[in-house]
Amino acid sequence: MKKLVVLTGAGISAESGISTFRDSGGLWEGHDVNEVATPEGFAANPALVLDFYNQRRRQLLEVQPNEAHRLLVHLEKRFQVVIITQNVDDLHERAGSHNVIHLHGELLKSRGVDNPQVTYPCTGDIKVGDKSPTGAQLRPHIVWFGEEVPMLDQAIEEVYTADVLMIIGTSLQVYPAAGLMNYRKEGTPVFYIDPNPSLHSRGDLTVIAQKASTGVAKAIELIIP
Ligand code: APR
Repeated sequence: MKKLVVLTGAGISAESGISTFRDSGGLWEGHDVNEVATPEGFAANPALVLDFYNQRRRQLLEVQPNEAHRLLVHLEKRFQVVIITQNVDDLHERAGSHNVIHLHGELLKSRGVDNPQVTYPCTGDIKVGDKSPTGAQLRPHIVWFGEEVPMLDQAIEEVYTADVLMIIGTSLQVYPAAGLMNYRKEGTPVFYIDPNPSLHSRGDLTVIAQKASTGVAKAIELIIP
């Protein structure tokens, strides 16, 4: 089977009811990125940061995958599908996708501040004073701005070996994720689905300016004639 590599961003979860970051009314309108999504912010006010992610986690447990997540699962019948997601939700997994790489971490995991490698399942709130088994303060398993992206090399390798690329619901503002598509082999077709796309169709890039559910269906029509 040919390999389809899919890069997803917050937009794919919008129809499930999760806010994106940079759209109007998005998360970064009501919250200061430097306060809630950096190691410095966590050092300055851990309770504020933990609370921000506690709210995100509680909301995640109340929403469901949408049609776009499900269409990517169906594609596993025709392609070897690898999803590289910037999202920290588990909606791809809950929809049934088998191969998901989380570039920016996972809300439903925690880790001690002493060791980024060892994670623990986490469905409840994390509070200041909650400790890992090694006695370190727990924090969400989230890659904050300024932190290393541990899954990057694997993601690059997947993009390099892709036969087809799909990019769904991302403003492509945040690196290194935004630069991943540049690792594709020359001529690899790219389908970019976003109602407010930050790129235009050109050469091997086809832009589908639609929301994820209808846009992914359209992309599938083009990929599987
Ligand atoms: N379907 C598809 N795309 C949508 C939809 C929808 N229903 N609604 C909005 N979008 C698009 C927007 O047009 C925008 O291009 O989703 C994109 C969301 O962009 P961002 O909010 O910047 O989210 P993302 O690109 O995933 O952000 C990357 O930034 O703050 C960090 O770590 C955070 O992983 C995140 C990273």
